[in-house]
Amino acid sequence: MNTVEVITLVTGGNRGMGLEIVKELSQKGQHVIMGSRQLENGRRAIEQLATTSGKVDLVQLDVTDPASVTRAAQTIATKYGYLTILINNAGAVFDHRQSAATVTSENLHLDFEINYFGLVDVSQKMLPLLKKSPQAKIINISSMMGSKTAALDPQSSVYKAVAVGYQSAKAAANMYTVQLAKEMLREKLPITVNAIDPGMVATEFGSGDPELAKKNGGHAG
Ligand SMILES: NC(=O)c1ccc[n+]([C@@H]2O[C@H](COP(=O)([O-])OP(=O)(O)OC[C@H]3O[C@@H](n4cnc5c(N)ncnc54)[C@H](OP(=O)(O)O)[C@@H]3O)[C@@H](O)[C@H]2O)c1
Repeated sequence: MNTVEVITLVTGGNRGMGLEIVKELSQKGQHVIMGSRQLENGRRAIEQLATTSGKVDLVQLDVTDPASVTRAAQTIATKYGYLTILINNAGAVFDHRQSAATVTSENLHLDFEINYFGLVDVSQKMLPLLKKSPQAKIINISSMMGSKTAALDPQSSVYKAVAVGYQSAKAAANMYTVQLAKEMLREKLPITVNAIDPGMVATEFGSGDPELAKKNGGHAG
């Protein structure tokens, strides 16, 4: 990894945690590709970073739109030829505080489209590019909200949280992470696959107010 430039794709890189990841990894010398579903928002975010970041490029990437994911993979193949790190960061919640007894199937589908199917589609379509790198990583931004252990533990901050669609989709993404990681090992490919929980971060996640989230104990976004 030392001799070849590290090329990193961050989905949902135009704001929130994704934007901070783009900034910090580019400052560390990685060549970062910001995935943004609205190019205009991505451009604005890159302008905002201009003086504080290193090499940052932009690609249109809506993880719920298979054609967009295919195009992004083709663009990366043409421009760079390989990918070293994929950070599946794009995520959203559509059923916050909705009762498990009555949550709509429409909201459950929306939760799964981005947090599970989107993550799987991006991983699968970027895999051929990751295989071209001497060593590669997939890092899935998951959440403690997807842990059944935490949901059943009265001591856990997640115990009282209710967003069954989001939680189920993150749990499913965790299982996909495990299975893909094991497959990479079985095939002796130098690609690690991990999921991480960033903890509570003060962003606009779930149409939230970052300032309020900070008051409630969220880390600065
Ligand atoms: N904040 C927390 O406390 C927390 C805790 C645990 C885990 N997480 C996870 O961390 C990740 C980032 O969350 P965040 O707090 O940074 O959220 P955020 O501030 O709401 O940012 C979400 C990002 O995802 C993008 N996005 C939404 N739908 C998309 C789609 N269909 N395709 C591509 N990008 C899409 C958004 O782009 P637009 O600007 O176009 O909407 C935005 O860039 C998520 O996976 C979330 O589940 C967050």
